[in-house]
Amino acid sequence: MSKYIKSFKVSEIYNKRGRLFQLDEETEVAIFKVQDEIYVVDNVCPHNHSPLMYQGYIEDNEFVVCPIHAFRFNLKTGEQPHGKGCKLRTFKYKIEDEYIYIKKPTFKIFDFEF
Ligand code: FES
Repeated sequence: MSKYIKSFKVSEIYNKRGRLFQLDEETEVAIFKVQDEIYVVDNVCPHNHSPLMYQGYIEDNEFVVCPIHAFRFNLKTGEQPHGKGCKLRTFKYKIEDEYIYIKKPTFKIFDFEF
């Protein structure tokens, strides 16, 4: 069963500037707004696992560029422009009463249970 977590109001996301949100105990996401469309991506870059995607900048209204080594990821799909290599995780969301509700991942990246 999928669960959505309430985050910010749409009006609290500024155009082409990322906003950091703690989705659960192990997941931080970066929320962007580009041309009135909301995008939610993992805050951890898949290239070198740097948790700074929220500081990335938007290019061509389509890509978020990691501030560390400038890899570009499609905001919708998480893929790089050439479609190869590491992929940025993207998240589904819904908007209700002006708030962005982000779908919680159904699996954990790290599993520390024994
Ligand atoms: S850590 Fe993001 S491109 Fe290298």
